[in-house]
Amino acid sequence: MRVLIAASEAVPFAKTGGLADVTGTLLKVFNGTAGVDAALMLPLYKGIKERFKLAETGIRLVIPVGNARHEGRVWKHDSAYFIECAEFFDRPELYGTKDSDYPDNPERFAFFCKAALEACMALDLKPDVVHCNDWQTALMPAYIKSVYSNDFFRKTASVLTIHNLGYQGIFDPTSFSLTGLGSEWFSAEGAEFYGKVNFLKAGLVSADIITTVSHTYSGEILTPEYGFGLDGVLRKRSSDIFSVLNGIDIKEWDPETDKYIPANYSRSGLNGKALCREALFKDCGLSVGESDNPVISFVGRLSEQKGIDIILETLDDILSAGALLVVLGKGDERYQSGLARVAERHKGRVFVRIGYDDALSHRIYAGSDIFLMPSRYEPCGLGQLIAMRYGTIPVARKTGGLADTISDYQSSDGSGTGFLFEDYNASSLMSRLRHAISVYADKERWKGLVMNALGCDFSWERSAARYAELYKAAFDKKEIN
Ligand code: ADP
Ligand code: GLC
Repeated sequence: MRVLIAASEAVPFAKTGGLADVTGTLLKVFNGTAGVDAALMLPLYKGIKERFKLAETGIRLVIPVGNARHEGRVWKHDSAYFIECAEFFDRPELYGTKDSDYPDNPERFAFFCKAALEACMALDLKPDVVHCNDWQTALMPAYIKSVYSNDFFRKTASVLTIHNLGYQGIFDPTSFSLTGLGSEWFSAEGAEFYGKVNFLKAGLVSADIITTVSHTYSGEILTPEYGFGLDGVLRKRSSDIFSVLNGIDIKEWDPETDKYIPANYSRSGLNGKALCREALFKDCGLSVGESDNPVISFVGRLSEQKGIDIILETLDDILSAGALLVVLGKGDERYQSGLARVAERHKGRVFVRIGYDDALSHRIYAGSDIFLMPSRYEPCGLGQLIAMRYGTIPVARKTGGLADTISDYQSSDGSGTGFLFEDYNASSLMSRLRHAISVYADKERWKGLVMNALGCDFSWERSAARYAELYKAAFDKKEIN
């Protein structure tokens, strides 16, 4: 199978969250095994050319977007291709600032979707399957079924993965003309959504196969509570929806070899984790007198999804329970300033770093004891997987992939890898967190939990094989139709 993975972010090139980990790692896993020959297509964001040695393909594209025409150039690095268009992608951020999204996002990603398909044609890279990810690349399945249903893509099937239904690419109806889709697509069966245009919906109605990133989430998205208005559309397509659980790059995230952390460790020796913890106290200016107390951490996007509001609400209780808090994140201004204020007020007990910092994230995963993920919803979540891989115990809401990947601690036999709570509110979070803190005080029990977490297998092999099967199923389905 020749597969083109199209995405708006992928490690190691550009990342704001887990989407980048998944697309970048999938490419790596596929190209290390037989069966799938994968290429990646990304926008050429600012800084990629400086950090990676890219080769020019010599291909220049002229892409109509609405009434304008935009020029693009195609670059290459191993099996990754990049679409250059300075006016759209040479910016400090990927999607927008802390205050708002870039207003020309519909132009930017309509351009990218078309340019990606044009680049395939110009490169004579004929994919059996285009694997699209989230709203930014969701116009591609619609294009393959309509304006690009030409000879070149006649046999190309499409798979669309929903990493996060909370982001759909919803724009004013005037933006519809930017897509270049025929007017019949501005309908209930197409990209129209309550009078607006919805890029993700265009993909959901046209992809041959839809996947999402955990089994529980694949059920949740069919309900009004988690469907963000698209549950009806998804229910109609339920026989084409599959779940493939995310893995992590276990070479990149490995406490035994990690170069970012001050000391390495594994199940056969945990001294290194204690050293990482000591170093984290220094890094974060935590008060050494508190070193017997558990260090609770959060690493992630500061968005409504992630439960920052209930973390802030529980803060006083967390501190009175004797725990310390370390936060690394970037996102909405209201959370950034709320967290910064709290850190200022509780120096030595709360540390907050606003920003994106890969190296610090590794040190936090390794050096903390408890990892918080009180998400409102969580399609899969990688934070908890990475935390467990580093023997850091998640306290998380029982939703989506968190429910599927964390097994709840049982005091009867000491089994489990974390602590789960059901209801989205500060008191449910705090009551489970209190339990975690009480187990932490019992060193033997806690060590048992850490060992359980360190023993988990979150590698990609099984899930990559599942994607390969689904690519084949999409391809066969397209051929029959
Ligand atoms: P989401 O994709 O919803 O953001 P995930 O848990 O799936 O959440 O993935 C988040 C990924 O992004 C993890 O690899 C996490 O370590 C990383 N990450 C998020 N925010 C930051 C940050 N501020 N600095 C460094 N890494 C971050
Ligand atoms: C998303 C989700 C997260 C998931 C990631 C990768 O942004 O919020 O749960 O792990 O994509 O699939």
